[in-house]
Amino acid sequence: MSTPSSSSPSSSSFTSIAKSRLSSLASHIMGSPSTPVFSTSVVPSAPEDPLFGLAQAYRQDPSDKKVDLVIGAYRDDNAKPWVLPVVKKADDLIRNDPNLNHEYLPIKGLAEYTSAAQKLIVGADSPAIADSRIATFQTISGTGAVHLGALFLSKFHPATPKPHLYLSSPTWANHHQIFMNVGFTLQNYPYFDAKTKGLDFDGLKGSLNSAPKGSIILLHACAHNPTGVDLTQAQWKEVADIMRSRSLFPFFDCAYQGFASGDLARDAWAIRYFVEQGFELCIAQSFAKNFGLYGERTGAFHFVSAPGDGAAQNNAHVASQLAILQRSEISNPPAYGARIASRVLNDPELFAQWEDDLRTMSGRIAEMRSGLRQRLEQKGTPGSWVHITDQIGMFSFTGLSESQVKVLREKWAVYMTKNGRISMAGLNTHNLDYFAEAVDSVVRETS
Ligand code: LMR
Repeated sequence: MSTPSSSSPSSSSFTSIAKSRLSSLASHIMGSPSTPVFSTSVVPSAPEDPLFGLAQAYRQDPSDKKVDLVIGAYRDDNAKPWVLPVVKKADDLIRNDPNLNHEYLPIKGLAEYTSAAQKLIVGADSPAIADSRIATFQTISGTGAVHLGALFLSKFHPATPKPHLYLSSPTWANHHQIFMNVGFTLQNYPYFDAKTKGLDFDGLKGSLNSAPKGSIILLHACAHNPTGVDLTQAQWKEVADIMRSRSLFPFFDCAYQGFASGDLARDAWAIRYFVEQGFELCIAQSFAKNFGLYGERTGAFHFVSAPGDGAAQNNAHVASQLAILQRSEISNPPAYGARIASRVLNDPELFAQWEDDLRTMSGRIAEMRSGLRQRLEQKGTPGSWVHITDQIGMFSFTGLSESQVKVLREKWAVYMTKNGRISMAGLNTHNLDYFAEAVDSVVRETS
């Protein structure tokens, strides 16, 4: 008598089924011979982020003279991060609120924050608000806002292949990877004129005039990063005319509202003008710099639909899709920074105090600009230094070459990005003389 385990037909078919299941499980885990198998050995090493890598090198430098002009984050006159007095006040109010809890925010974000952010950027009396033509989502600071917009456009732009995405040359380095990550082909439009250290307006216009119809143009609303070179209102009007005639799509990145001129409305002028002109457009808005809420990741993305029949309904459709994208990526935005900004934006007294704080920051930076220019001119440092005071906002594009930047770092322990950008906020009354001396020496040695 045979045992049930060895030779019964049922047991042998059980074994063959089990064997085939095991082998299909194994090939699922290991991959079939023709399917490439994922292994960490296929992952190439990527370079360190140039900006944050440099910031780390600065921290490790033992020099007691070292100067940090790397990251665009405001510092006070003692080179320390500055918590805005109005932010401290709002923070106290929030912490002492007996109703504070840590529930999820809605997918779109804190409602009183998104509506205040919308008013701040397009103006409270904008017809786009009255017509319900703006879809606003709270985002992970400005980076998250640019990404959400990029993702949305890459998914819903009807053109095949995707339209080209134009970035200013140069631009914030992260713009490249954010847009490439979602499949856009990038183009540059001329922006900085190395000879004048100002705007290459003819180059910019020429490029927009020859961009394929429907291209997306990334525009810095104010305090251009990295150059500190902005368009005048008359130049913005010309750009708007070209963009209208060539059906180009504006995507504004606004990371420095109130930080450039100290005046919130003036810094948002270009955006408000384009909205008033009836453009359909995107806006990425950051509160990192103007509230000093860098680590709280407080921003907003706005999709403004063009006016006309069905605009509100079209915009509601956009919002419904943005909600799905947001849910799949971050579910719900982080609450704390938005609570702080919302308190300030919605309270007239706190708002006025915020405007004072903005003037403190932009005013100190303007003083550093004139102090630096004055010192270089007094020393007779070769070249013109007028651009230091012509440029605006957090950064100055000094015109120093990569090799000069290297000497400044190695010999003087002065840290800045290799394109010669300095964060003006890293200068103060204690290091301005030293920095001017370093620049003077390096420029003389190399010219
Ligand atoms: C900068 O350009 O220094 C800032 O915007 C920080 C960053 O994220 O790059």
